[in-house]
Parts: sequence; C-alpha cells; structure tokens
Amino acid sequence: MAKNTLTVTDNRTGKQYEIPVADGTIKAIDLRQIRTSESDFGLMTYDPAFMNTASCRSAITYIDGERGILRYRGYPIEQLAERSNFLEVAYLLIYGELPAKAQYDAWAADITHHTMIHENIKKLMDGFHYNAHPMGMLVSTIGALSTFYTDARNVRDPESRRLQIHRLIAKVPTIAAFAFRHSVGHPYIYPDNSLGYAANFMSMLWKMVETRYEANPVLVRALDVLFILHADHEQNCSTNSMRAIGSSDADPYSAAAGAAAALWGPLHGGANEAVLRMLDEIGTKDRVPGFIRAVKEGHGKLMGFGHRVYKNYDPRARTIKRLAEEVFEVTGRNPKLDIALELERIALQDDYFVSRKLYPNVDFYSGLIYQAMKFPVDMFPVLFCIPRMSGWLAQWDEMLRDKDQKIARPRQIYTGNGERDYKGMEERGG
Ligand code: CMC
Repeated sequence: MAKNTLTVTDNRTGKQYEIPVADGTIKAIDLRQIRTSESDFGLMTYDPAFMNTASCRSAITYIDGERGILRYRGYPIEQLAERSNFLEVAYLLIYGELPAKAQYDAWAADITHHTMIHENIKKLMDGFHYNAHPMGMLVSTIGALSTFYTDARNVRDPESRRLQIHRLIAKVPTIAAFAFRHSVGHPYIYPDNSLGYAANFMSMLWKMVETRYEANPVLVRALDVLFILHADHEQNCSTNSMRAIGSSDADPYSAAAGAAAALWGPLHGGANEAVLRMLDEIGTKDRVPGFIRAVKEGHGKLMGFGHRVYKNYDPRARTIKRLAEEVFEVTGRNPKLDIALELERIALQDDYFVSRKLYPNVDFYSGLIYQAMKFPVDMFPVLFCIPRMSGWLAQWDEMLRDKDQKIARPRQIYTGNGERDYKGMEERGG
C-alpha cells in the first residue's frame, strides 16, 4: 500500500530517512535531522522569494494558477463580482461565511461609523509636501494611526482585533480620499454615512460645493466590483509582509503600513500605474510591434503581464476587461484601450510570451478604467490598497489564531568572511 512518506538517501553518509508527507508538503524542519556529523547544524532548504515554500495554512483564498481559478472562502471570484458587494466580501474574508441580513447590517453600520478620522490625522496629512505621492501619504498615515489607537497593541485580544479591523477597513478610504484632495489642493470632504462604501469614497474624492455628491451608479458599481476583485490574493508580497510584521505581535496599523509599502512597488500593486505609463510611452497602436520586440530583447517588461502564480489568464483580468466596456459607455472610450488590446493580441500569439505562460494580469486593464473615471495615475496603487486592507486583516487575524505560527524568522546561508581580527584605521592601508 502507498505510504504518505518520502524516503531520502543522504549520499554523503549513506543514511536513509523517512519523512512524512501531508497536504503535498514535507516540513522543512524534518530535514534538520539529516546531518553529516553530530556538530552539523542539519539540512535546510534554500528558497529565495519563496518559490516553493508554503509559509502557512490558510482557509481564506484559493488559487489554481494553472487553470486560472480564484475563490474567496470557496466562492468563485466571478460569482462574487457578479452578485455580491465589497462590504459583504470583506465580511466573508474575515469571518469565513457570507453574512445573514442582520449580520450584514450590523457589519455595514460598524464600518460606516468608523469612517471619520481624528482631526489631528488631518493636520498630520496637511504637513505633506504639495506634490507628495498619495500612496506615500497613505502608507505613512496608516502607520500613524497606531499612535491614535494605542489599544491596538493588544493583538492577542480578539475583541480588540475586531475593533481595529473595523477601524482600518472604514478609515482607509477616508485617508485615501484626503491624500487625493491634498494633492490637488482641495479641502477635505468628510464621510457621508448615508452612502455605501464605494459611493462614500467617491463623494470624499469629488464633492465640491453641492450639498450631496451623486455618483453615477454604473461607476459606483464598477468601483465596488474592482474592490471585490482586489480584496485578497493569498500569500503575495504585501500579504506576506502583513503576516511577517504581525508575527512579532506588532499592532495592525504598523503591520498594514508595511503591507501597503510592499504593495506600492511596480512589480506588485504599482503595476497598474506602470501599465498606464507604458501605454503612454508606446503612444500609438502602430508602435506596439516595436515595443514587443524591445521587451523580447530584454529592454523592460510588458507591464500588466505575467504572474508568479497564474500561468493562465488571470480570472480578474477577464472580469475587468468586461467591466471596462460598461464604464466606457458612461465615460467614453479610453483611447489607450486600443493600444492595450493590440498588445494583448500580439503577445498572446508570440512564442516568447506563450512559452513563458505570460498572460494579462489584474493590472493590465484596471488602470484604463481608473483613468476613464478620472483618477490620476498616482492614485492607482491607492485604489488597490483600499480593498486589499480587508484581505490583509483576514490573513493577519488567521495568523494570530494559528497555533503553528511563531515570529517569522527565515534562515540564511552565510557567504561572508570567516572570523578575522579588527585592525585600527592606521593599519588598514588605502
Ligand atoms: N514581460 C516580459 N517578460 C516577462 C514578464 C513581463 N511582464 N514577466 C515575466 N517575464 C519573463 C521573465 O523575464 C522570465 O524570462 P526568462 O525565463 O527568459 O528569464 C520569465 O518570464 C519568468 O519570469 P519571472 O521574473 O521568473 O517570474 P516571477 O514569477 O518572478 O515574476 C512578476 C512575476 C509578476 C513579478 C513578473 O511577471 C512581472 O514583473 N510582471 C510585470 C509586472 C506586473 O504586471 N506585476 C503585477 C502582478 S499582478 C498584481 C499583483 O498581484 O500585485
């Protein structure tokens, strides 16, 4: 009968070891027993960038990258994008089940009533330079929240965690909108509790002298769907940062600021911004073949293409491509769409991209929608951060409840000098 074990022969010593296999993995710590001598530390794995290492057990998000499948708590992303709303999805990610009506109402009320920020946070934001990047303002201000909610340090208390989760999901759109208003020199707009999550965000962004900001319902729904699609994506760079920082029992504001900083990079959440800059650089459809040629020759990347996990069409990109058509009916067609479609058409026929399984990812079309909705390019990573906060918090909470987890502390292979004696400056030469 087949056994769920792996037999390893160490050819250095001729010894054999039987290592348990569970969930398609072996425990790296089980390799430690494999030694050449008593003083040997034991075998480790070397896995820069976590290419083949599961860092946790998680019941939140499932991805099958080969088949292009994404599910939150078992629900296909396509169904959630079609039928749910962002606040319901955030509840699902955090609590594991879709809410009953009373649970949803209580949750929506809790989030709505935490949307205000302390006046001193507003003053803090006033201190940013007039041309500060909104993502930089967001990262810093999320971190600064920890100085206002000192109770948040009590991370082992589930009640305290619940309160910080409400605060963070509620306040991130307010801070994001204030960052935008600051960058355009307009007065901050306070939250309107009579509006839904996305509509309130749009009001804080764009309300001027009118008493109530009425956003176009198609655009409100489009933004809400984009929030659903970006809410979680299992163990990516920013989520891993959230878990790693949180594993020291740091408060969630500090951990979320670190996660947001990780998200900002152009290889992660900053890619949607990079896509738009790339489309600007290409300029016209007829220059697409030349651009693709340059990428293949090693001059830059086709931004918005490729993914560490998806080796198929990113299911979020498919939904966003459809959503773009609905948005463009309201806003008018973004002329860069033609360049993007041409890039996709050529790349998907080109052996370079096909053989490497490089397909459009979530960021390829989202920027076109954001731009059509009049968001400046600098705001794109901010728009990613707002919904991803719910995913980070679900992952952080799961990590703190997981008995397997400890403070994150990878090993290294030391490649530096052996021991040597200190020399005074006069002995060191030139
Ligand atoms: N354009 C051209 N070549 C690419 C691209 C691209 N966008 N992505 C990967 N490659 C090539 C890469 O050069 C390598 O080629 P070779 O085998 O000849 O060296 C091969 O494909 C494998 O790539 P990799 O760098 O080993 O893949 P990775 O898993 O380390 O990187 C990635 C994944 C997303 C960082 C990368 O595909 C990339 O930089 N894409 C562009 C940036 C982007 O769109 N990022 C958004 C990711 S989705 C949103 C999110 O989750 O944050």
